[in-house]
Amino acid sequence: MSVVILDFGSQYTRLIARRVRELRAYSVILPGTASLERILAEQPQAIILSGGPNSVFDPSSPKPAEGLLEQGLPVLGICYGMQYLAQALGGRVERAGRREYGKAVLTRHEGPLFAGLEGELQMWMSHSDAVTALPEGWKVIAETEENPVAAIAAPDGRTFGVQFHPEVVHSPKGMAVLENFLELAGVRRDWTPEHTLETLIADIRAKVGSDRVLLAVSGGVDSSTLALLLSRAIGSQLTAVFVDHGLLRLGERHEVEQALRPLGDENLRVVDASEQFLQALKGVSDPEEKRKIVGREFIRVFEAEARKLSQEGCRWLAQGTLYPDVIESAGGEGAANIKSHHNVGGLPPDLKFELLEPFRYLFKDEVRELALLLGLPEPIRMRHPFPGPGLAIRILGEVTPHKLDILRRADDIFISALREWNLYDSVSQALAVLTPMQSVGVIGDERSYGYVLGLRAVSTVDFMTADWARLPLDFLDEVARKITRQVPEIGRVVYDITSKPPATIEWE
Ligand code: XMP
Repeated sequence: MSVVILDFGSQYTRLIARRVRELRAYSVILPGTASLERILAEQPQAIILSGGPNSVFDPSSPKPAEGLLEQGLPVLGICYGMQYLAQALGGRVERAGRREYGKAVLTRHEGPLFAGLEGELQMWMSHSDAVTALPEGWKVIAETEENPVAAIAAPDGRTFGVQFHPEVVHSPKGMAVLENFLELAGVRRDWTPEHTLETLIADIRAKVGSDRVLLAVSGGVDSSTLALLLSRAIGSQLTAVFVDHGLLRLGERHEVEQALRPLGDENLRVVDASEQFLQALKGVSDPEEKRKIVGREFIRVFEAEARKLSQEGCRWLAQGTLYPDVIESAGGEGAANIKSHHNVGGLPPDLKFELLEPFRYLFKDEVRELALLLGLPEPIRMRHPFPGPGLAIRILGEVTPHKLDILRRADDIFISALREWNLYDSVSQALAVLTPMQSVGVIGDERSYGYVLGLRAVSTVDFMTADWARLPLDFLDEVARKITRQVPEIGRVVYDITSKPPATIEWE
């Protein structure tokens, strides 16, 4: 049972799928032009047609499969989706005089789609075409000052079109509109974390049987949650491998070991390969070169473990691939072409594993909900992303044990202070960067000479663009004082106020 979202190229399609799941209904994204057979295979209880950049009156614009509207399924058309419904069922769509873009207010709205919503409603608009004539029997159920047809309803009481985008945050009551639609459509709302957990465990057991499974854990939320999930599902058939590359933050390895205690000591292999990584990074200062070296060494270490396990008869390799990766890897064709990633991280071809990806239909928020049920400690569950190459790309220039030690202590002061001030969860990522620059200072009567440390904190939704976080000045002041006091090798602390673009989040 699902809500099928047909994607016509809207930048918000993924958001629609997430919102529907937040309303506890399972959703899948298929390309707008997916075949009827493909759509029905998902056992849809309702269909949502996304927005998109095309005009429905353009003959080459993408259209849903022939016969979809004759299935008696409830449909919600959003923006382009609404225009498609109007046109396909006998109404008319034309280019509007001008583009309606941004926040708009529904000056009038009525009927069950807006149940419980009184007064003027702010909704987000972004369209250039407009519905100018309705299909027979349909009614206009909302309007804005600029747009007399902001929402429409079919006579069946379960099919609607909305010109606005209920899924975005700029439509504060948009979730209520989506929820009303799901209710009117009679969609089952049992997609709870508990249900997801049960389903995943049953699926894993059915798939794996009595085989063994190998998992590489990084200490991030996805792989840690997956480790706990697999352990719950198949117990000691799981072997988790955690490679300590010596580029982790202060106390990180211990934290991960603690979090994965439930696996049992014999099922968690911690490989200390710090020496090997540091040796390989010696004398290297180019960021891309450092990334390559870390990637290559990781594969070397992991391959050795994987080979041992493979010889012992281990058949599966588990990965924490998420739904957004799956949608992305389908290369613009939407999720219909869902292919296995097979990014087994560069293992040699003679080492054959079957891929197990229990999270391939989940969003990050859903993994975090599972993590809560599985008892993953809060600091790991809500942790900011940390790059695979670790501190190697947060030490500008050559990585040395001495610099790693300096950066670890400074980073820990910054991150701990963020937690103490309750600011950690208000930023998407925070980090400290050790520059190779040294600057002059004064301590007592003495002239000092110390490293320049950069602090960076950003807010972002997708990590593709980001804004620097406006952390309180008193907070920054406290952090700078603590760092220069407790890490005397650092003489100066600067805060990065560059957004992305043009800068990236990491400094390397
Ligand atoms: P940038 O610096 O490109 O980072 O704005 C965007 C996000 O990606 C993370 N990042 C990496 N993650 N390996 C990773 O696993 C890498 O080489 C890498 N480089 C950047 C970065 O921390 C941020 O979350």
